[in-house]
Amino acid sequence: MSTAPELSSPKRPVSHSTLGRAQRWSWVFQRVSGVILIVLIFTHLFINLWWGDGINQIDFAFVAGKLANPFWQWFDFAMLTLAMIHGANGMRMIIDDYARSPWMRTTLQWALRIATLVIIVLGTLVLFTFDPCPADADPSLLPTFCFE
Ligand code: HEM
Repeated sequence: MSTAPELSSPKRPVSHSTLGRAQRWSWVFQRVSGVILIVLIFTHLFINLWWGDGINQIDFAFVAGKLANPFWQWFDFAMLTLAMIHGANGMRMIIDDYARSPWMRTTLQWALRIATLVIIVLGTLVLFTFDPCPADADPSLLPTFCFE
């Protein structure tokens, strides 16, 4: 009869005092952000795909009109940051589970952190510095409030 294979030791030493607490917060964050994201994303899809003229109304003026409104700026900011951190936290666990060498794990984790940060910073800049009435634009593309 063959004997059961021996399990190799864990890839990372687990300290129950510190890592345990961080893991618990990460678990709670994924659940809470997941529920909030369902509300944010379905509202986003409803407004952009169905409400009014639906998908046909999406043009520069539509986006400019939304991003001139602080409500939609903060709504999009919440969706952007929560979606990015939720996705990155999930990827972090997948890298920890599957990366075979410590070098590969460290490289992938840093690539993930940098990509997440760059996307959050660029996305936030778009949301809060967007000019809805650029001076040299074709007037037929601009929202009506640019001429009031
Ligand atoms: C077919 C489906 C979708 C359409 C037509 C669409 C359309 C748009 C449009 C027109 C904007 C510009 C601003 C605004 O409307 O608030 C936008 C921004 C955004 N969308 Fe979507 N979207 C879709 C799906 C999604 C999904 C599934 C997500 C998931 C998280 C998402 C996340 C975002 C975010 C975070 C922004 C803000 C980006 C930024 O400027 O920083 N969208 N989308």
